[in-house]
Order: sequence, then structure tokens, then C-alpha cells
Amino acid sequence: MSAHLPKESASAAIGVFDSGVGGLSVLRHIRGLLPHENLLYFADSRHAPYGAKSQAYIIDRSREITHFLLAQGAKAIVVACNTATAAAIHALRQEFHIPIIGMEPAVKPAAAATRSGVVGVLATTGTLQSAQFAALLENYGKNIKVETQACVGLVECIERGDLSAGATRALVAQYVIPLMEAGADTIVLGCTHYPFVKPLIAEIAGEEVVLIDTGSAVARQLRHRLQEDGLLSENRLQGTTICWSNSPEKEAQQLIKHLVGEDVVVEVVLDEAGQIEGI
Ligand code: DGL
Repeated sequence: MSAHLPKESASAAIGVFDSGVGGLSVLRHIRGLLPHENLLYFADSRHAPYGAKSQAYIIDRSREITHFLLAQGAKAIVVACNTATAAAIHALRQEFHIPIIGMEPAVKPAAAATRSGVVGVLATTGTLQSAQFAALLENYGKNIKVETQACVGLVECIERGDLSAGATRALVAQYVIPLMEAGADTIVLGCTHYPFVKPLIAEIAGEEVVLIDTGSAVARQLRHRLQEDGLLSENRLQGTTICWSNSPEKEAQQLIKHLVGEDVVVEVVLDEAGQIEGI
């Protein structure tokens, strides 16, 4: 069944979502490139992490959140999550006939950048086991060695706001050091949460190592698609940003404000009884 049709007007907002706060690393690039657009962000923190969940579960979550963002007036959707893109982008594009932008680990630019011929990829288990990732390796990984590392537990640290705590550092070291030992000179941050611990990754990997994420490429792709479809906002004022979180934790709103780095409105999704709503 088809969803709510969005307002196909240029003045409508762009909806962005992730399993939690990770997609805010992408939202920051979108805001930088498209200062006049109104942005809506949904952090599905109550259901994070998506990393080890089934494809059917992630499709359900992605559909529900897309319906929510369309009901708020989104004209396009950015799936600011590598795991959800791999699991659900085809299902979303079949159901919702608006621009839907997804993302994938930056294996292609990393293959072009590496000098040692060894590229490390940090991502979730779901992303690394997906058919999309296998296709990426098939297309761009043939002439290089790709060392993959599923970072179990790291998303949870970031969701708690522990961006530099000792436990987070230990986990990053556990995942990054084997890539260095394998000779990687380029590391792909294949999960949108990881840019928030980039300083830690850089410190452990050393300054010679190039770290690549896809936030800016996604923002450019979004602008290109909106331009093509005549959906770029003609607004000349600074766009607004509204974020929703379904996290039961009080600190969630503060964390979102901190990670966005600009003045944002953060709403918690509550039902009439003051409980976290179904979504
Ligand atoms: N931020 C997500 C990604 O890009 C998902 C992390 C998770 O929920 O496991 O893959």
C-alpha cells in the first residue's frame, strides 16, 4: 500500500533518519551544503543498534519512520545509516515515490586513495554481511586488499554520549589496531555513528592514515537529486532543524543538541499518557 504522499513542493522539508544519533554526522553536512532547507531528523534510539538486527526488522522500522517523516511534511528522505540502506532502501523506494537517498561505505574513494593497497573498513555486522557490501567489494575491491572489522558495541557507546571515555577508547583500539597491523593506510568509517569518534580513531591509527566517511558525498548527492527534481527550496532565510528522538533517556535531547552543533528543536515522541509513543 502506498503511503501518505508528501507535499511535492520545494518549500517542504528534508527528512533524515538513522537508528539513533549517528545520522546527525550526515545532517551536519546537509546543513552546511543546503543552509536554506528545513531539516527533520528522526533518531530511532529506542531501537538502536540496528547492526545485528534482521533485515525484516530494519525494513519495518525504516517504513514506520518514513511514514512519520512524510506526515511531518518531508519532500525527500535521506537514510543516514549504512545498515538501514543495505537492508531497506529497495523496499522504501518501492513503496514511497519521492527522492530517497541512501549511503554505503566509501570503498570506492578508499580504493583510489590507498598507497599501501590495504583498506580497512569499520562498519556494523549487518552492513558487512549485506549483498550491497559484497557488490561494492566486487566492483571496487578487486585490486586492493580490504580488511573488514565489525565494531560490536561501539554504537552503544556513542548513543550514551561516551565519545572519549576509556571504555570507548579501548573498543576503538581493539578494532583499529588489527587494521593497522594488516597494513591499512586508509580506513573507511562505514557507519554514520563513527565520525563522532573520529578523533579517537585518528589518534589510535596515527596521522599518516586517511579516514574517509560519506557524509559530504551524501549531501552533494541529495542536492543534485533535489535540483534535478525541481525540489530545492527557494527560501533565502536560514532553514530550521527539528529533531525527534524516541529514547527514554533524558540526556538524549542534550546529546542531539550537542552533536548537531547548532540551535535545534528536539522533540521526544510521547503518546497521550506521556509514554514513549509506538514509533
Ligand atoms: N549508524 C548506522 C550505520 O550507519 C547504524 C548503527 C547501528 O544502529 O548499528 O550503519
